[in-house]
Amino acid sequence: MATTVSQSDLTPPAVYGGTAEQWRERDRRSVAAVWSRYTDLVISSAEGSYLTDVEGRRYLDFGCGIAVTTLGHRHPDVTEAVHRQLDRYWHTSVVTQSVVMTEAAERVAAICPEPLDVVFFANSGAEVVEGALKLARRSTGRQNIISFRGGFHGRTFGALSVTTSKALYRAGYGPLLPGIHVTPYPYCFRVCDHAPGEPCPIAAGEELERLFHQIVPASEVAAILVEPIQGEGGYVVPPPGFLATLRRLCDQHGILLICDEIQTGVGRTGRWLAVDHEQVVPDIVTLAKALGNGLPVGAIVSSHQLMDRWEPGSHGSTFGGNPVAGAAVVATLKVIERDHLMERATKLGEAMRARIEGWQRAGSGPADLRGRGALIGLEFMDQEGRPDADRVSHIKHRALDSGLVVLSCGIDDNVIRLLPPLTVSDAELLEGLDILESAVLETGRAG
Ligand SMILES: Cc1ncc(COP(=O)(O)O)c(C=O)c1O
Repeated sequence: MATTVSQSDLTPPAVYGGTAEQWRERDRRSVAAVWSRYTDLVISSAEGSYLTDVEGRRYLDFGCGIAVTTLGHRHPDVTEAVHRQLDRYWHTSVVTQSVVMTEAAERVAAICPEPLDVVFFANSGAEVVEGALKLARRSTGRQNIISFRGGFHGRTFGALSVTTSKALYRAGYGPLLPGIHVTPYPYCFRVCDHAPGEPCPIAAGEELERLFHQIVPASEVAAILVEPIQGEGGYVVPPPGFLATLRRLCDQHGILLICDEIQTGVGRTGRWLAVDHEQVVPDIVTLAKALGNGLPVGAIVSSHQLMDRWEPGSHGSTFGGNPVAGAAVVATLKVIERDHLMERATKLGEAMRARIEGWQRAGSGPADLRGRGALIGLEFMDQEGRPDADRVSHIKHRALDSGLVVLSCGIDDNVIRLLPPLTVSDAELLEGLDILESAVLETGRAG
């Protein structure tokens, strides 16, 4: 089916005057410094794969606002759906039922494996993680939660309590939520001590068994919360079988498996969910980020069996399921399916990997290359085998100077993460990889 509205039919974005430096100065005066920004770009408009700053310079965006604008900026279908909804109604909250929320819930349920077919909407990733933890405690009557070292689940107190990717995020905020137990993630490139190619004991569940044996009885655990691929922690892909191990242990002990797909979900890895690659069905899935392609929305998805144990009124939100965000959700999911963007994610991933493997063969590439679909991590180590955050910082700056936005991640900030929009053209992909290649090779020579 063809796209109904072209970008140029829509009202053009506002153009702001002033220099970037003037805007930075105004920002410093009135915006909280706690916002730690990846770049000092001052953007006045965005379209497709590009951001344009206040001085008219264009940047190719391979960060997608941290894994959000998967369809590119202001995708015509999403923009049209949002405009239409603005002309109907914006907000009723729980005062009424909302046809848009119902439609969005049906769409979200349809991208999740059976029996996950009921949805609770909120406004952000952290909020849906909070909700999922509350649902797990309330529905099991158990208090303990297990999460993984290096995981990132958000900044609110509950979500922060299960977040261990950087101490900075937690410092000074304690005491955090009690009943949280953190166990190692199978990060074989850095953390595990088995030989390369040997089976990973962490992925086989040995650490969890030890935790149950020595620290918290499995019968007192409400949920295991896991990212199927760690995002902020460094785009860490666990060995095959890890998620199945978690599923087995959860089934064995009546524990709920919560998969946080906030960064990995909604088609980015080549499937709707990253767990689909392993045919593992969680009890609860959390989604946000790309779900509204830039409008703030998050979703908790579970089964009737579980969700029906959440008594009406025991959780809620004024803005959750906002109709305008809901319209964006419906349009986003339709476009991903209609335009075969999951197949595109797989192809983009193959193209990026092939190119980066060339840099590795030339001796200047990352020490480890990993990911799934169009979610790719490049981990850089120095000559002594230590995490090379300096080089990653140089790569990002050189790329930015040449017009490409790329983000970093990782417990040591030594991983470049590539997340181009799934709508990126072949020419744009090439342009981005050419810029990145120069930055990687130049910094490789310098180092
Ligand atoms: C896996 C994961 N969970 C939760 C969150 C928190 O989402 P938000 O920033 O929307 O609260 C993030 C954000 O990066 C994330 O990557």
